[in-house]
Amino acid sequence: MSTYLITGATGGLGSSVVEHLSKNKKPSEIAVLVRDAASDQAKEYQSKGFEVRVADYDTKEKLIEAFKNIEILYFVSGSNIDSRTVQHKNVVDAAIQAGVQHVLYTSAGRKDESQNSPVAVVMDAHVKTENCLKDSGMAYTILRHNLYTEVIALFLGEKEALLQSKTVFLPTGDGKTAFALRDDLAEAGALILKDAAQHQNKIYTLDGPEAIDFRKVAQILSDITEEEINYVSPDVDTFKTTMASNGVPEDIIGMMLGFSLGIAQGEFNSESKDLEYLLGRKPRAVANLLEQIYA
Ligand SMILES: NC(=O)c1ccc[n+]([C@@H]2O[C@H](COP(=O)([O-])OP(=O)(O)OC[C@H]3O[C@@H](n4cnc5c(N)ncnc54)[C@H](OP(=O)(O)O)[C@@H]3O)[C@@H](O)[C@H]2O)c1
Repeated sequence: MSTYLITGATGGLGSSVVEHLSKNKKPSEIAVLVRDAASDQAKEYQSKGFEVRVADYDTKEKLIEAFKNIEILYFVSGSNIDSRTVQHKNVVDAAIQAGVQHVLYTSAGRKDESQNSPVAVVMDAHVKTENCLKDSGMAYTILRHNLYTEVIALFLGEKEALLQSKTVFLPTGDGKTAFALRDDLAEAGALILKDAAQHQNKIYTLDGPEAIDFRKVAQILSDITEEEINYVSPDVDTFKTTMASNGVPEDIIGMMLGFSLGIAQGEFNSESKDLEYLLGRKPRAVANLLEQIYA
């Protein structure tokens, strides 16, 4: 019988949590939640001996079924910004009804919880879900992830494009972010799952090793590529028109703008040592991943 259930197991974070947890627990103790049982990933989990359970955050009844006999849930936040407040409530309600004892929730670090924050649209569901969990009667562990280091590559695009423009072009001003590798965040989550009782009703702020601005990111990229990569922080209108003229879709421009202005405002400027404490080593630096992508 499975003790643990990892949601989002077909995604980057969830699959990495399963991999790390498997170093200490048998596959028979770990269940994974998927939306599509016929997917290659679901079949691969099954072939490795993990119990595959199927549900969507949209359907509470299926979630209750999927959470039966699970003690500890690693709950990966949903990716649909518009619907995830309701989806997350479904997950928490279903966990209560199924008798789950402890939920780890992947939240996000932030400073300003008001609607004035440029990232309010992203943070809103996290704040509500954290409150829901605190009121649930279940034990909880809230993992306030900083931005993934992987987000830098999402913003900057592929190596060829970067080497052509030789410019980091983002309206992030002098704002600093303590980017953390997604795999380090997953490893910390798996270590908490292993000794879950020690981490009940705790909130961890999970930051990378240092908060850096995008001038520093450009410097790191210059060292890696042996080209001079400049940093330009345009005003909002220039950013929007430049991105649109390069064919970037409007919703992506909006997402990049929100995060950039959040970074400029210091929303992700945090240097908590919680991640280092949980990992028992320094989290990996930004250069570690950028080398793999841009060298
Ligand atoms: N801190 C950061 O910088 C950062 C960056 C990006 C995202 N995030 C957040 O962190 C989460 C995990 O990141 P990631 O990189 O692992 O994302 P990802 O690779 O896109 O994986 C998301 C996972 O969530 C599952 N999922 C999404 N909506 C669902 C629903 N309605 N019901 C059930 N499962 C659902 C997906 O299932 P399918 O495979 O079926 O789609 C997938 O397994 C994201 O969902 C997002 O909330 C944080």
